[in-house]
Amino acid sequence: MTAEAIINRSYSLPKEQIPPTVVEEISNDERAELTQKIKSQLKQQNAVLVAHYYTEPDLQVLADETGGYVSDSLDMARFGHESNAETLVVCGVKFMGETAKILNPEKRILMPDLNANCSLDLGCPGDEFSAFCDAHPGHTVVVYANTSAAVKARADWMVTSGSAVDVIKHLAAEGKKIIWAPDKYLGDYVQKETGAEMLIWQGACIVHEEFKGKELETLREHHPDAKVLVHPESPGAVIAQADVVSSTTGIIKAVTEMDAKEFIVATDNGIFHKMKQAAPGKTLIEAPTAGKSATCISCAHCPWMAMNSLRKLSQVLESGKNEVFVESDIAQRAQRSIQRLLDFTKDQKKLAGDA
Ligand code: 13P
Ligand code: SF4
Repeated sequence: MTAEAIINRSYSLPKEQIPPTVVEEISNDERAELTQKIKSQLKQQNAVLVAHYYTEPDLQVLADETGGYVSDSLDMARFGHESNAETLVVCGVKFMGETAKILNPEKRILMPDLNANCSLDLGCPGDEFSAFCDAHPGHTVVVYANTSAAVKARADWMVTSGSAVDVIKHLAAEGKKIIWAPDKYLGDYVQKETGAEMLIWQGACIVHEEFKGKELETLREHHPDAKVLVHPESPGAVIAQADVVSSTTGIIKAVTEMDAKEFIVATDNGIFHKMKQAAPGKTLIEAPTAGKSATCISCAHCPWMAMNSLRKLSQVLESGKNEVFVESDIAQRAQRSIQRLLDFTKDQKKLAGDA
C-alpha cells in the first residue's frame, strides 16, 4: 500500500473484530476465597499488581490492599519501573504489559489474559506504520502508548493522554513536524491545542468513539449545572462540550477538585470505582453512547480490559503462564522512546516544583 493510501485509509477496527464486553460473574464466597489465595500467591512470589482504572473493581481493590498500584497508563509504567518486586502482574491490556517488560527486562511480567488488546494497537500494524514513516522523512515520530512494541521501536517519542499536549508543544517550539499515531481524535485535539504541523494516523478507540455529541447536548440540557469531563480519545463533537479534557487520572482529580455536585463523564465506566472512592458525595453520570444515531457495542466498557478477572489472575500466578516477552532488538529501540517521555515528565515535575 502506498503511503498516501495509508494516511487516507481508516484504521478503525471493523465491528466483527470487536469482542463482546463480558464481565466474569463471581459469587461473594468465591471472591473472598480467591482474594485470600491471590494475596498469599503475591507474597510468596514477591509480585505486585499494577492495574488500570478501567479494570474490574475486584482487581483494583486487591491491588490497593496488597501494595500494588491502580492508575493511568503513564503512572502504571512509572510505578512498575520504580518497584522492587521481582514480578509485575499487569491487569490491563497488551501494550501495558509490553511497556512494563521493555522498562524492566529483568522482571517477570505476567498478565491475566494475553488476548486483552486495544483497538488502537490493532489498528496500527507495525509494517504499514513503518512504511508510512519511511515515506515522510524529516518528521519527528510520536506515538501514543496504546501501540505495539514494534511501533514504539519505530518512534522517536512515546506519549500518553496525560502528556501528549506538553510533548507536542515542546516539539513544535523546536520547529519539528510531527507524525502522530494512532488515535485520530487525540491527534486532532493535540493539533488544535498546540498548532503543531501533524500528519495524523486514522485509528480510534472503539470505546470512546461511541460517545455522541448530539445526545450529550440533550443530556446537558437536563443537567445544566453538571460539569463535563472527557477523555481526549473521544470524538471532537464531545470534546468541544468538555469543561475538562484529561487523562483518566486528570478526570478523577477534576471530580475531587471542582466545586460542582454533578459530573457527566465521557470515558470507560470502569473509572467510576475510583471516582466514587475519591469523591463519595458527588453525582456521576455516564456520557451517552447510544441514541438515535448509535448502536453501542462496548457501551462504555472496554471489552479487552474486561478480560482481566480474579479467576484468571489466580490461575496465572499458579501456573506462571501468560508471561510477556518482547524481542530484545525491538525492546531496546522502544525503550528509548518510552524513556524520553519518562525523562521529560520528570523534568517538567522538577520545573513545576522549582517555580
Ligand atoms: P490513560 O493513559 O488516560 O489511562 O488512557 C489509557 C487508555 O487506554 C484510555 O482508553
Ligand atoms: Fe484501547 Fe480504548 Fe480499550 Fe483504552 S478503552 S484499552 S484505548 S480499546
